[in-house]
Amino acid sequence: MKTQFCKYTINFRAVMPVIIFLAVSGWGTIALSGPSRTFDLDRFIDPDTCSGCHYEIYEQWSNSMHNLSHKDPVYNRVANFLRQGLTDQGEIDEAESCVKCHTPVGVITGFPEKLSDDLSKTPDIATRGIQCDYCHSVVDVEKMYNNGLVLEPGYGEDDPGIKHGPFDDAEPDFHDAAYSALHDSAEFCGTCHDVKHVTFGTDLETTYTEWKNSPFNSDDPEERITCQGCHMYQRPGVPATASTKRPENPGPAADYSKERPHIFTHYFVGANSGVPASFGDSQKAAMAEARLQHAAELDLDLSNLDKKQLGIIVSNTGAGHSLPTGLADMRQMWLEVIVQDKDGNRIFETGILDEKKELPGNTLIYRTVFGDGKGNPVLNLAKAREVLHDNRIPAKGQAKEVITLDRILEKESTIQVRLLYRSMPQKVLNLLPGEPLGPLPVVEMARVSHTL
Ligand code: HEC
Ligand code: HEC
Ligand code: HEC
Ligand code: HEC
Ligand code: HEC
Repeated sequence: MKTQFCKYTINFRAVMPVIIFLAVSGWGTIALSGPSRTFDLDRFIDPDTCSGCHYEIYEQWSNSMHNLSHKDPVYNRVANFLRQGLTDQGEIDEAESCVKCHTPVGVITGFPEKLSDDLSKTPDIATRGIQCDYCHSVVDVEKMYNNGLVLEPGYGEDDPGIKHGPFDDAEPDFHDAAYSALHDSAEFCGTCHDVKHVTFGTDLETTYTEWKNSPFNSDDPEERITCQGCHMYQRPGVPATASTKRPENPGPAADYSKERPHIFTHYFVGANSGVPASFGDSQKAAMAEARLQHAAELDLDLSNLDKKQLGIIVSNTGAGHSLPTGLADMRQMWLEVIVQDKDGNRIFETGILDEKKELPGNTLIYRTVFGDGKGNPVLNLAKAREVLHDNRIPAKGQAKEVITLDRILEKESTIQVRLLYRSMPQKVLNLLPGEPLGPLPVVEMARVSHTL
C-alpha cells in the first residue's frame, strides 16, 4: 500500500511502527524535529554496517570530502587558527559554528556543540563525517543555508527505520525504504553548500545560490542539471561536467539486488585533490583533477596586439556554479601568463609561484574578498561583515582580461597562458602554527599558447 505524502511516497508498511511509536509517546502524527533537536547517538547506524550490503557505494564514499569533513587536517588547522584571539561575541559565535556541517552527526546527537569542545572526545561514529545514515534519514529542509536539514533517523540496527532514496519500489529486508524527491533536488545539497555568517548574515559560501541563478536551474528538462546530475554521475574515467557526457551508471544498489538503469555515485568529488591524497586515496585525487580539467576553457584575443593589448578569455564551460565556488575567499584559481620574445627572453610574466610557493601581488586571481564593514579586507571569515569583491566566473559565463604589454610583439614571440587551481593559498598555510602544512597540489585546468 502506498500513500502520497507531501513530496514523498512512503511505503505504508514501513511507516507503521513509527506512527505507532509517536502516537504512544503523545506527539500525535509524525513530528518533524528541527535540526536543533538532539537525538540519542545510538539512533545512527555505523557506515560499516551499510557497507555490508552497499559495499561499492561505501568504497566510493570512503575518503570523500564528506567522509573526511571532520578529520580534514586543512579544515581543522584553519578553523582552530581563525578562532584564536577573537573578542567580539558575534565573531566568536561564527568561529564556533563550524561543527554543524563538518561534524553533523555529533551536533545532532549533542557532542560536540562547538568547535572549542574537546574534539578528541567526539564519538567515533561522528568522526566519520557526513555519512550514510545522516543523509538517508533526511526528511525535510527547514532553511536553505547553514544546514537546515530535518532528520528522522531510525532506532539503530535493531530498528533501522526508513532510508530515503531514489527508488519507489525498493524492498530491502534490513531497513525500510521510501522514495524521496528531496534527495534528487539541489536543495538537499544546497542547505549545507550555502553558508552564512551566523551573526552578520554575510554570504560566506554561495554554491547553491550560484546554481539557483544559473541556466542549469531550468524548467526545460533537457537543460536542467542538479548537483547530483554532475557530482553523482562522476566515476573514474567519467568526469561528468557540463562540458562532457554524463552517462548513466547501471548496476545494482546493493551487492545482491537487481540491476538498475542508474546508480548515483558517492565519490562527492569537487576540486580538492590534496586532502584525499593525504589519506592515501590517489583515485579521488585523480578524479578531482579530471573535474578541474573539464571545467574551463582559455582563449586568446590577439586583435589588439598592435595596441600592445593581449586579451585572455576564461570561460566556465563545466561547472554548474561559479568558478571557483565553495570557500571562495580561500580557493585560488589564477592566470599564469608568460610572454617571450623570439630568443626566449621573458618580456612579461604573471602568476608564477615564488620559492615560498606564494603568488606575486599582481596575479589575476578569481575569488571573493571579505571586508570588516568599513571597506577593509579581512582574512578571517569570522570577521566578515561584507563581501568587498567577487570576480569569479558564473556558470556558462566568461571573464575577459586585458594585459597591457610594454611593447609590440615581434614575429616568433610566444604567448603561453595557463589557468591554475589550488585549494588554499600557501600564505594562509604558512600562518598556521605547528607542523608546516602543504604545499598543496597545483592543478592545470586549461592552457593555450600561440607563436606569432
Ligand atoms: C542487509 C543488507 C542491507 C544493509 C545492511 C543496508 N541496506 Fe540499504 N538497501 C538494501 C537493499 C537490498 C536495497 C534495495 C536495492 C534495490 O531495490 O535496488 C537497499 C536500498 C537502500 C536505499 C534506497 C532506498 C530507496 O527507496 O531509494 C538507501 C538510501 C539505502 N539502502 C541506504 C542504506 C543505509 C544508509 C544503510 C546503513 C544504515 C543501509 N542501506 C544498509 C540492503 C541493505
Ligand atoms: C551527502 C549525502 C549522502 C551521503 C553521505 C550518502 N548518500 Fe547515498 N545518496 C544520496 C543521494 C542524494 C542519493 C540519491 C540521488 C538522487 O536521487 O538524485 C543517494 C542514493 C543512494 C542509494 C540508492 C542507489 C544509488 O546510489 O542511486 C543508496 C543505496 C545509497 N545512497 C546508500 C548510501 C550509503 C550506503 C552511504 C554511505 C556509504 C551513502 N549512501 C552516503 C546522498 C548521500
Ligand atoms: C554542470 C555540472 C555541475 C553542477 C550542476 C554542479 N557542479 Fe559542482 N562542480 C562542477 C565542476 C566542473 C567542478 C570543478 C570546478 C570548480 O571547482 O568549480 C565543481 C566543483 C564543486 C565544488 C568544489 C569547489 C571548490 O573549488 O572548492 C563543490 C563544493 C561543488 N562543486 C558543489 C556543488 C553543489 C552543491 C551543486 C549544486 C548546488 C553543484 N556543485 C552543481 C560541476 C557541477
Ligand atoms: C550536512 C551538510 C552537507 C550536505 C547535505 C552536503 N554536503 Fe557536500 N560538503 C559538505 C562539507 C562540510 C564539505 C567539505 C568538507 C571539507 O572540505 O572538509 C563538503 C564537500 C563537498 C564536495 C567536495 C568539495 C571539494 O572541494 O572537493 C562536493 C563535490 C560536495 N560536497 C557535493 C555535495 C553534493 C552533490 C551534495 C548533495 C547530494 C552535498 N554535497 C550535500 C557538507 C554537505
Ligand atoms: C553550512 C555548512 C558549513 C559550515 C557551518 C562550515 N562549513 Fe566549512 N565547508 C562547508 C562546505 C560545503 C565546504 C566545501 C566547499 C568547497 O569545497 O569549497 C567547506 C570547506 C571548508 C574548508 C576547506 C577544507 C579544505 O580541505 O580545503 C575549510 C578550511 C572550512 N570549510 C572551514 C570552516 C570553518 C572555519 C567553519 C566555521 C567558522 C566552517 N567551515 C563552517 C560547509 C560548512
